Amino acid sequence: MSTPYGPDEIAALQEKAKRHLWLHFTRMSSYAESDVPVIVRGEGAYVYDQHGKRYLDGLAGLFVSQIGHGRTEVAEAAARQASELAYFPLWSYAHPQAIALADRLANLAPGDLNRVFFTSSGSEAVESAWKLAKQYFKTTGEPARYKVLSRSIAYHGTSMGALTITGLPGIKEPFEPLPPGGVRVPNTNFYRAPAFVADDITAFGVWAADEIERAILREGPESVAAVFLEPCQNSGGCFPPPPGYFSRVRDICDRYGVLLVSDEVICAFGRLGYYFGSERYGYQPDIITFAKGVTSGYAPLGGMLVSDRLMEPFVGGQSTEHHHAGGPVQARADSMAAGSAAPTFLHGVTFAGHPVSCAVAMANLDVFEKENLLGNVRSNEGAFRSALEKLTDLPIVGDVRGDGYFYGIELVKDKSTRLTFDDHESERLLRGFLSHALFDAGLICRADDRGDPVIQLSPPLICTQEHFDEIEQILRSVLTEAWRKI
Ligand SMILES: Cc1ncc(COP(=O)(O)O)c(C=O)c1O
Repeated sequence: MSTPYGPDEIAALQEKAKRHLWLHFTRMSSYAESDVPVIVRGEGAYVYDQHGKRYLDGLAGLFVSQIGHGRTEVAEAAARQASELAYFPLWSYAHPQAIALADRLANLAPGDLNRVFFTSSGSEAVESAWKLAKQYFKTTGEPARYKVLSRSIAYHGTSMGALTITGLPGIKEPFEPLPPGGVRVPNTNFYRAPAFVADDITAFGVWAADEIERAILREGPESVAAVFLEPCQNSGGCFPPPPGYFSRVRDICDRYGVLLVSDEVICAFGRLGYYFGSERYGYQPDIITFAKGVTSGYAPLGGMLVSDRLMEPFVGGQSTEHHHAGGPVQARADSMAAGSAAPTFLHGVTFAGHPVSCAVAMANLDVFEKENLLGNVRSNEGAFRSALEKLTDLPIVGDVRGDGYFYGIELVKDKSTRLTFDDHESERLLRGFLSHALFDAGLICRADDRGDPVIQLSPPLICTQEHFDEIEQILRSVLTEAWRKI
């Protein structure tokens, strides 16, 4: 255990963190009596804190670090790009890295998803997809379509539009009223399926998909713009789609002219053993939103991949779009002045498609190819599942579910009845014990009770049997202890 941080520096980090830093989604009062965890470096599947203590990064940071930590070739790609062209906007201009990455992603993406609109984050990607859907329908003569369907307990981001799409009432309530148009449909948690389909996963999938149709009909099909679905829903603890679910949803969307947006902020870039989660489950989205794993976190980047069909109304009048020496304001004025010319998508953010982030994404995808990371996930996912399924002998483990390198473990109070913990128990179990105990035991994962209490796992794609065994052993000892404390 070596650390560059001496006792004084460690104390100073704590003091300044507590005084000045605001952690996201974090109850800051919980650090009044305890230390803020400070991670100082990473290598492969492990990260180290300021004391030099090692942790297995079982969540890939936050579903991000696909290739693992400490890859100097990716860091060097960032440094090279920052020296050559640190920044230029994608507002009216392009730069070689954004062009190269857009081309590469279009080639990787399924079907006719050929156009990339970059953002700097997942929330911005989701926000952009909703805005595109709205403007697309306004442009193509269906201006009343603005509503968005999404699933209960699903997380789609925190900006106001994305939060409207997010299906977690608890994190929305402080910000109400949110933009109108968010509509909830059921998720695909088979462990908690309604009784009439609880014994038949295919029937459950039909019911869950048909609930989307019923919601469209209830809202009025002429008012619905898009359905946002993750390939495998994260929040709630990994809900893979039942067999046939997505093909039925695709048919429903086609029947009512509703766009299918596959929110792959987590599920893209190898998490499920494919570049895109929609490939794994065999459906064709109209838009894919992505972020996180596209750079493995070596720089921030997000975006949406859009089908040719959706882009078409925006390219018809390309002559007005060619070059705008006056920048975006001029471009917009030109487009409006052109009258009948194709409209401009009136949306953008300064750091979207940042040259350094695009260079990093290219280097990240080079690592994917060189090390066959998709192959690694596909050949080892069975071993990962088996390691986690060993835990089902514990009384507290109700369900182990997921695909690829993406799993949720649902914790229950009574396995035979699937009884969950009440709010107070859940608070005591997850916040009061598990989060700290897992961290202290050297495993970074997530204990989450935004739906039923779950532990979420999403290790780097480089992980193999030794990491799965380590995860299983730590979970086994901490969950055994948790059961004793209940
Ligand atoms: C499915 C999904 N969509 C959107 C987001 C928002 O991404 P970001 O945190 O980069 O804004 C997340 C973040 O975890 C996500 O999991």
